[in-house]
Amino acid sequence: MAGNVDALYIFLTVVSALMCVLVFTLVVVFAARFRRRKGVRAEQIEGSLPLEITWSVLPLGVFFVFFAWGAWIYFSERTPPQGASEVYVVGKQWMWKLEHAEGQREINQLHVPVGRDIKLIMTSQDVIHSFYVPAFRIKQDVLPGRYTTTWFRATKPGTYHLFCAEYCGTQHSGMIGSVVVMEPAEYQAWLGGGGATTGSLASNGQALFTQLGCATCHRTDTQGRGPNLVGTFGKPVLLEDGRTVMEDENYVRESILVPTAKVVSGFKPVMPAFQGMVSEEQLNALVAYIKSLSPPSAGAANTASVAPSGEKPHGPEVH
Ligand code: CUA
Repeated sequence: MAGNVDALYIFLTVVSALMCVLVFTLVVVFAARFRRRKGVRAEQIEGSLPLEITWSVLPLGVFFVFFAWGAWIYFSERTPPQGASEVYVVGKQWMWKLEHAEGQREINQLHVPVGRDIKLIMTSQDVIHSFYVPAFRIKQDVLPGRYTTTWFRATKPGTYHLFCAEYCGTQHSGMIGSVVVMEPAEYQAWLGGGGATTGSLASNGQALFTQLGCATCHRTDTQGRGPNLVGTFGKPVLLEDGRTVMEDENYVRESILVPTAKVVSGFKPVMPAFQGMVSEEQLNALVAYIKSLSPPSAGAANTASVAPSGEKPHGPEVH
């Protein structure tokens, strides 16, 4: 991404510099050329339509280039590629807590292999922070109460600065860390010998799912009092009030914390709220588990895919 961002930035700077030179040159030239002279009277000019259209349309065209180019970069930064490795990030005053899908936990450090797409699923347990890695040209606010995401693919091994870029209290400036990009073999060794893991994020989530009693209602058949969650992630969900929403990380998160916010069509709002009962880390594990019930290969196409066969409570999932 860095090359694209830099190219746009250089283009902006060059266009601005050219305009600046043009404007100041004309100011000086016209001041000299049309200066007050003895015996010469000023002539009233009525304006020129072709000239005015030209100096309106030309800059508009240039601005549209900025817009289209910027939008293209923005959307590619916003859209993690399919199959990216996921890392959950929790910001808190004043540290970054990171957890890999495989279960490795880190503080203020993120180890990744070179050349792999990494999707960050981020939230805060207190105030607004911002995840900023200047070398990768990525900066994304990290908000309490919801997930924001960003992604990167590091192209060179090395250690890169990680900053918090949103003033978040006394030790904001100390909320720094590093992203360590390693050769794949090195990374494998790190995974093996690295921080003690207590199983993958999804398997921790599965244990929690049972422990919190979720499994009693969200059964894997059609008899549960809650929707069967197998194969539903990343697909549209028809709600009781007729709306259709995408089942993404934020939807799952909200449905755990405030289940009555968006009730799935055909179900009653009987699920207890877990707001304040699960930590951000536990929530991340639950989300990872629910995602693991829908492997990407099963539902890569999002339109007109298989309607859940004979699963009456789901209703028409694809709207
Ligand atoms: Cu966190 Cu500034």
